[in-house]
Amino acid sequence: MTSNPEAPISLRVIAIDGPAGSGKSTVAKAVALRLGLEYLDTGAMYRAVAFAAISGGVDVEDADRVADIAERARIDVDEMGVRVDGVDATIEIRGPEVTRAVSIVAANPKVRAALRDQQRAWARRRGGGVLEGRDIGTVVFPDAMLKVYLTADPEVRAARRTKEVTDLSYQTVAADIARRDALDSGRHHDPLSEAADAVHVDTSELTIDGVVDCILELLL
Ligand code: DC
Repeated sequence: MTSNPEAPISLRVIAIDGPAGSGKSTVAKAVALRLGLEYLDTGAMYRAVAFAAISGGVDVEDADRVADIAERARIDVDEMGVRVDGVDATIEIRGPEVTRAVSIVAANPKVRAALRDQQRAWARRRGGGVLEGRDIGTVVFPDAMLKVYLTADPEVRAARRTKEVTDLSYQTVAADIARRDALDSGRHHDPLSEAADAVHVDTSELTIDGVVDCILELLL
């Protein structure tokens, strides 16, 4: 008997979604470490596709060509960094050019379908994991064992990102976050939204450890 790759299997998936600067990456990494699970930054995968398009001279508005990249490129995201077809893109995917283009890439339904399949395969190979993004609990793993939706006040999110990037002013970062919030929430396909059964955690006044402890308690 051959196994059906689409058949639902029980995976230990923790989905952490939320807008830019809500603390997803730091929290998801710490939760994964504490649980002995692997962690996947799905935003890095969208950024990797944007990087591959830009470096290959492909217009990010060219939906079919960008989808083709998402379907064919080998994207590796792990604790060592991000590689696209073996080329290290860890630094470049966080740069302003990719950050400007990534919302267009993430709005492309064929790109979303390709990356969703890769994210499911990643978790299947490991029996689960901690995945962070915008649509993990709503689309990629609607049956996740635990869904967490992290938020924080826009000013807090902008201040956190400003500290991370160091070379941009608070105003520039705040404007970029507002622009990406609007694009991520307003797009037609799989917009950023909170799953009905997600646990909502406002991280504005919490420390990272406080958020992590709160998530781990939910699993007890
Ligand atoms: O989390 P981030 O800023 O690195 O995400 C980059 C972009 O990818 C952002 O525009 C949102 C988008 N994204 C998405 O649409 N779905 C995901 N699961 C993860 C990220």
